[in-house]
Amino acid sequence: MSIQTSNLYGSIAAEIYDLDKPFGALPDTAFYLDRLSGVTGPILEPACGSGRALVPLAQAGHAVSGFDTSTEMLARAQARCVEAGVTAHLSQQGFEDFVYDQPFAAIVLPVGSFTLIGDVAVALAVLKRFHAALEPGGLLMIDLPPLSMLSRPIQDRRSWTTPDGELLTLEGFGTGTDWLCQTYEARYRYERWRDHRLVETQIDPMIQRAWGRTEFELALAHCGFGEVHVIGGYDRSRGVRQSDRVLTFEARAL
Ligand SMILES: C[S@@+](CC[C@H](N)C(=O)[O-])C[C@H]1O[C@@H](n2cnc3c(N)ncnc32)[C@H](O)[C@@H]1O
Repeated sequence: MSIQTSNLYGSIAAEIYDLDKPFGALPDTAFYLDRLSGVTGPILEPACGSGRALVPLAQAGHAVSGFDTSTEMLARAQARCVEAGVTAHLSQQGFEDFVYDQPFAAIVLPVGSFTLIGDVAVALAVLKRFHAALEPGGLLMIDLPPLSMLSRPIQDRRSWTTPDGELLTLEGFGTGTDWLCQTYEARYRYERWRDHRLVETQIDPMIQRAWGRTEFELALAHCGFGEVHVIGGYDRSRGVRQSDRVLTFEARAL
């Protein structure tokens, strides 16, 4: 795994992630459980984080694997599997070089993890890697925010209190937009306060790449995928809308 300098998701970020997004809190969980209910083969979640999406899939009876670069996110995912009484094959790997010795029936990337690949050439190579990791006809599902994410100014300031009474704070602000490369950079500062004293600080530079709808459909086709469908706002009953904050791309490995 190559050394990472951004999108680190360290210990405070991992703790906040679980406080902020408990199981089932986001609409993607029900959507993915429903869509994957007929899938009988193994499912892979690249960048599985702390298991927010993976654990409910395992609880529904799926054989699940997940990889992530963050030690802290993976440790939480492992603990949450134990707590839920399920097993998942978890490993520390990256998008760029993950390997498995069995093909998957489905690969899923909820909530925009794919945008964390900031370079378009690397992203295309990763899509080809997903294709190679799927069985013929296997299902790929990727959530992406719309292109308009590039124009949203990041000014994020929030705090949480842990069950132990510690105060965790997050402060994020945008540091630059590259309109040619369609990338957005931000810097997140995480703090841990105990008894009114600052005891830990972590800085995480973030880089994300936004995709146009047609651009991503073409990228999927270029990487060997067909039967591409786009769903807006996790709602299959209607077409995609301008106002959708999440687009889900579904495709089959040809
Ligand atoms: C927004 S979180 C999503 C976690 C999980 N998929 C979910 O839906 O809750 C993004 C995750 O991507 C991981 N990540 C960042 N860069 C990565 C890379 N190059 N390869 C694999 N995982 C990466 C981070 O460690 C983090 O856990």
